[in-house]
Amino acid sequence: MDLGIKGKTALILGASQGLGAAIAAKLAEEGANLVLVARNGEALERSAKELSAAHGITATGISVDLSDAEAVAAFAAQIRSEIKPDMLVANAGGPPPSPAIGVEQEVWQRSAQLLLFSIIQVTEAAVEGMREKGWGRVLAIGSSGVIQPIPNLAVSNTIRGAVAGFCKTLAAEVAGDGVTVNMILPGKIDTARVGQLDTARAGREGKTVEQVRTEIAASLPIKRYGAPSEFASVAAFLLSQPAGYVTGQMTRVDGGMIRSI
Ligand SMILES: NC(=O)c1ccc[n+]([C@@H]2O[C@H](COP(=O)([O-])OP(=O)(O)OC[C@H]3O[C@@H](n4cnc5c(N)ncnc54)[C@H](OP(=O)(O)O)[C@@H]3O)[C@@H](O)[C@H]2O)c1
Repeated sequence: MDLGIKGKTALILGASQGLGAAIAAKLAEEGANLVLVARNGEALERSAKELSAAHGITATGISVDLSDAEAVAAFAAQIRSEIKPDMLVANAGGPPPSPAIGVEQEVWQRSAQLLLFSIIQVTEAAVEGMREKGWGRVLAIGSSGVIQPIPNLAVSNTIRGAVAGFCKTLAAEVAGDGVTVNMILPGKIDTARVGQLDTARAGREGKTVEQVRTEIAASLPIKRYGAPSEFASVAAFLLSQPAGYVTGQMTRVDGGMIRSI
């Protein structure tokens, strides 16, 4: 299937590794130009060089700390004046694991800045140009915890619910301008983030990481973790031309992990 995004520009947040990097690779294969964002500028530059050499696209890296409100305000201005993306992948690093009670105010605030306020500000800036062009795609990376809160991930469960509310509201506001807004919910996709959570759980439960991973895989209907490229294929479709009639949706990429309909 031709995804119809050759020559379009994708702005991908959290693109230095994991899910964001996998989406960048998939969109590059489809001929999209890339603007990659994270804190690790060296990793972004390296991946921008590799992807542009391999696929004949334009790719650049911009180092932005999305937990820094001032930096994000400056970045939003740059999105409006220079980047003007056709596609936005709204993504950032996950918050630390913890129960709902006892989280320090500073952690709530920093996590909300990173995963909610910055995402709103960047999305608003990106959507402005999309509406003018009459075409655009916003895809926010959430978590299965939006639907089925994950024990000991209280901050993530809480803040991602707010992102879901923002996306659904925005989707209705911009649908008539050719802009779709969707959320994609990973379950257990094998990235560094999931590795860190597994390691933390192994420490809490006095098990080896391998034991924890075997138990988790066995608990999933599909009996294995997902590959980042499997996740990225679904993301690429939701960002594509043929997905133009899909908006305001949450798509689960979780191997059947969420048990509800
Ligand atoms: N993998 C899964 O199955 C899964 C499941 C549920 C939810 N999620 C969520 O999906 C998101 C992506 O997951 P992942 O597995 O790809 O995580 P990851 O491997 O930890 O990657 C996170 C990305 O976000 C960037 N980032 C982190 N903090 C940042 C900051 N302050 N400013 C700018 N960029 C920042 C990181 O780059 P730098 O360090 O270079 O900044 C990296 O590129 C996370 O929010 C995660 O919690 C993932």
